[in-house]
Amino acid sequence: MKKQIVLKSRPVGKPTADNFETRLIEIPTVAEGEVRLVAHTFSVDPYLRGRMSDAKSYIAPFQVGEAIVSGLVAKVVESKAANLKVGDFVMERLPWQEEMVVPAKGLQVVDEKIAPLSYYLGILGMPGLTAYFGLLDIGKPQKGETVVVSGAAGAVGMVVGQIAKIQGCRVVGIAGDDAKNEYLMKELHFDAVINYKTVKNLDKALDTACPSGVDVYFDNVGGEISDAVIAQINKGARIIICGQISLYNATSMPVGPRIQPSLLKRSAMMQGFIVSNYVHRFPEGFKVLAGWVSGGLLKYTNTAYKGFDQLPEAFIALFEGKNLGKLIVEVS
Ligand SMILES: NC(=O)c1ccc[n+]([C@@H]2O[C@H](COP(=O)([O-])OP(=O)(O)OC[C@H]3O[C@@H](n4cnc5c(N)ncnc54)[C@H](OP(=O)(O)O)[C@@H]3O)[C@@H](O)[C@H]2O)c1
Repeated sequence: MKKQIVLKSRPVGKPTADNFETRLIEIPTVAEGEVRLVAHTFSVDPYLRGRMSDAKSYIAPFQVGEAIVSGLVAKVVESKAANLKVGDFVMERLPWQEEMVVPAKGLQVVDEKIAPLSYYLGILGMPGLTAYFGLLDIGKPQKGETVVVSGAAGAVGMVVGQIAKIQGCRVVGIAGDDAKNEYLMKELHFDAVINYKTVKNLDKALDTACPSGVDVYFDNVGGEISDAVIAQINKGARIIICGQISLYNATSMPVGPRIQPSLLKRSAMMQGFIVSNYVHRFPEGFKVLAGWVSGGLLKYTNTAYKGFDQLPEAFIALFEGKNLGKLIVEVS
């Protein structure tokens, strides 16, 4: 018998451990075209919160009583598929289970020789691709421009800031912790940082950090932080709506300022996107990101929880800002 974690109830507000339940399940035998996988490293991501609610979105909600599904790097331990052998590592969105039998078709083989396995869930996976396409395709940062990124010390944010540096921009990061901000400045060479939790006057801090205004805003968090940044955009600014984590646990939607006049007066553009819009270009994004990683232009870090049972706690930690870089759960 192996462990599986299911959604026990839909969270109201911030998720708690009570929203999850661990069950013991039988793992079926492997049929032709299938493989048996042992979980190695799970990804926990803010978007899973959306799937825990039954509100209509771009991806179907989880059903109560069914396993949570997220990115997983897993090891093939039995194979009846020609394209996969025992010992291979694969990556796919898979259930929160210690072991599973799944069709081999659609599993992406990942190579430890190219990068550490956890990178396929972070900088070389969905978050890295989100940063790459969102910033470059929508934000179109130009040399000398000022790029502000919120959620700057997270999986997506720290890649956004570094890609903006590669483009020759001034990069300002907003995060909720001094140690995170020190990492952004010292290790990733951001030009300025703001701790939104301790700053006395966010408008003033932004004004100081962005003496030439804001040309590109990569928005990972929404809410009051974004209200403040949008108030300081330049003519022709591009605002990329990637995430709104400050609102994911809201039980009623807070009302903010009317931002249309700012967009109108500055001829600015605001666009939301989902990384899967770019699925046809993922190979291109992977190649460029892998090149920057191997060339030392992109650094990366993870925060790792250890043990299958830690999955719910690690997921909840995203909303408490406990992670620097990608939050992962190492199982084996
Ligand atoms: N559009 C897409 O296709 C796409 C793809 C991937 C991710 N996303 C979105 O991008 C954002 C970042 O995702 P990620 O995977 O890189 O997560 P992450 O940034 O690694 O982790 C979440 C971080 O958000 C910050 N946070 C939590 N609650 C907050 C609040 N109320 N206000 C401000 N900041 C808060 C915390 O950092 P602090 O210590 O700074 O508070 C936390 O560490 C999320 O909104 C996610 O939904 C979108």
